[in-house]
Amino acid sequence: MIDQPDDRSRESSRRILQIAEREVGRIILDIHDGPVQNIFAALSQMYIVQRRLGRHLGDGFADEIERLGRSVGLLEHALNDIRTFMGAFRPPEFERRDLILVLEGLAIQHEALTGSTVVFDVDGDLPEVSLPVKIGLYRILQEALSNSTRHGKADHHFVTLYSDGKDIVMEVTDEGIGFDLATVLNGLEGIHIGLEGMRERVGILGGSFHIQSAPGNGTQVRVVVPCQ
Ligand SMILES: Nc1ncnc2c1ncn2[C@@H]1O[C@H](COP(=O)(O)OP(=O)(O)O)[C@@H](O)[C@H]1O
Ligand SMILES: [Mg+2]
Repeated sequence: MIDQPDDRSRESSRRILQIAEREVGRIILDIHDGPVQNIFAALSQMYIVQRRLGRHLGDGFADEIERLGRSVGLLEHALNDIRTFMGAFRPPEFERRDLILVLEGLAIQHEALTGSTVVFDVDGDLPEVSLPVKIGLYRILQEALSNSTRHGKADHHFVTLYSDGKDIVMEVTDEGIGFDLATVLNGLEGIHIGLEGMRERVGILGGSFHIQSAPGNGTQVRVVVPCQ
């Protein structure tokens, strides 16, 4: 019954998730067509200047050549970072690919980017899920894996999915260094939007979010959301 006020506001929250994904796609395209092309063009010019200056090494240009070399290196580094970011955030074809493919693709991408291992396990059959659920689980897994690598320093991650036909459960576990939940959740360590974002996404989908962690004992993120 879509016309109950609660259902309506839930429905519009779900629409926001879809629109946000489209926006991300557009931002990535803009970054690609704008700054990336300009950095690339600037680098091409600098390579030419570098080559020409190289011929005058003996004429007292050593300092300029060295500075130019460092600038080239910095720009190459920036370009690489932007490309990695764009690759990691480009939305997959959510409409055309099913949940397992989308999430497993992300796990494989994480392995390739970090050199870590992601053990991906689907326990039993999974029912069809709505598009917002697919998008939500994808972004939550992305943040959880990124946290495990960046903060947990984990080189093994475990992703498990299962369902009772009504709800779908996703667990992301790592054997990393863990952290003190109370300290982070009380915001004593500054502003962290990753965990908060996960909790909000799950809330929009009408599900529940759980996190367990302890220093030295790894971390587990567990989300339960209705499939539809
Ligand atoms: N898997 C993890 N292993 C270790 N520490 C974690 C993990 N996930 C989160 N944390 C801790 O919780 C903090 C908050 O995470 P998050 O909200 O994603 O913000 P951010 O990643 O921007 O710091 C992190 O800075 C880190 O201290
Ligand atoms: Mg984070």
